[in-house]
Amino acid sequence: MSKFNKNFLWGAASAAYQIEGGWDQDGRTPCMWDSICHDYDYLTDNGDIACDHYNRFEEDVENMSKLGLKGYRFSISWSRLLPDIDGPVNELGLKFYNDLIDKLIDNNIEPVATLLHFDTPMYYEGKGGWLQRDTIEGFTKFAKVAFDCFGDRVKKWITINEPYILANMYRMTAQMMKKDPALAAFQSSHYMTVAHARVVELYRQHAMGDGLIGHSPNLSMVYPENDSKEVIENTEIADLFFNKWYLEPALKGAYPKRALELLEEYDIIIDITQEDKVIISENLSDFVGVNTYSRMIIKDSFDLRSYSVGTMALTDTSRSDANAKYTAYDWEVFPQGMYDILVYLKDQYNNPRIYITENGAAYDDKTVDNGVINDQERIDYLHGYISKMKEAIDDGVNVQGYFVWTLMDNFEWMKGYSIKMGLIHVDFESLERTFKQSAFWYKELIQRNEI
Ligand code: GAL
Repeated sequence: MSKFNKNFLWGAASAAYQIEGGWDQDGRTPCMWDSICHDYDYLTDNGDIACDHYNRFEEDVENMSKLGLKGYRFSISWSRLLPDIDGPVNELGLKFYNDLIDKLIDNNIEPVATLLHFDTPMYYEGKGGWLQRDTIEGFTKFAKVAFDCFGDRVKKWITINEPYILANMYRMTAQMMKKDPALAAFQSSHYMTVAHARVVELYRQHAMGDGLIGHSPNLSMVYPENDSKEVIENTEIADLFFNKWYLEPALKGAYPKRALELLEEYDIIIDITQEDKVIISENLSDFVGVNTYSRMIIKDSFDLRSYSVGTMALTDTSRSDANAKYTAYDWEVFPQGMYDILVYLKDQYNNPRIYITENGAAYDDKTVDNGVINDQERIDYLHGYISKMKEAIDDGVNVQGYFVWTLMDNFEWMKGYSIKMGLIHVDFESLERTFKQSAFWYKELIQRNEI
């Protein structure tokens, strides 16, 4: 048994579109996910109601309190707070977040807010979203409103969640439209990187900017399948574009030189101005939020043009050994990856402050004992990953908190409601919430503060 620091921030994470519902309630206007779900045929589910957290947040905070959470990571819906591109703040949207934050604080739960969790408003997305420079300005304005309104009580901010995944969506769209996928991915990721730096700058200048600010990239340790020269080289390139491309600007103030050279070699010419470089170099993050679930094994060539290495390796189950275990998402369970990515961050980035902002597992949750979902596999997953996180802390890595993904079952993007990742079960007919075995387990872990 090994004790955590007494201030260790144990929490759970969520995202606005995945739980709030109330999609057109009280003046909210659509974000890109409302459009994906409503305007195209590829999904049968949508987040119109989701967990109805917008109307049931009090019950949800009471559940967090029963779990003994010390922190809660949520995201602010940009188009709920600012329903129009130039319009005023939506008073009812503002009230919702104020009430949520106050209720958290009343329950001794620290609010940790994410500004963008995949839900760019349609008033920007319709104009090209993160492929357009204008979106940086709009995002900075939104951030200012959030800091003005909530900065007195929220002291930990995450600018952008998983920019790689968002950039990858522009890649896929470009591919479907027979445009250059790599250009779309890198251009959009660059504008997000500039937006992150601009918002960090703004926060530091803000009267209430006395907290911490960072971003939450999805990170996975990359491993070569064998030690052939080609595979080792490909692994380095994969690491460069999956991890370092998102880490170096925020933690060292510039893109890796090798990455920029490779883009040039492949003739992927993106718009990076001198001013962008200055803003990035002057506004480093206070911490890095780590979203990590699995690992990547690199065996064959890395195709920079299609820029698909991350998603492929994570989902291609044939890449790992026969004894490996997988979650219902087909992601390999690999706790050692948690240890390795944390030590990698310490070694490569001068031991930065770290919060694990997402880690958790999807399972079918079919076993019920005495009315409680017996999700032993999820408990095993969490136990394995948290133990490895503790090992890394004992080896000197500066991890200050851990947020399990996720508080309750919710709208899991392309998989809709078919994928379950919560500590709390949600019946999507009655919207009733019920603790799973893993919730009781997590509660005890927090209470003992040791693993
Ligand atoms: C992340 C994302 C979360 C959640 C999680 C599990 O990519 O930030 O919103 O969906 O994966 O799939």
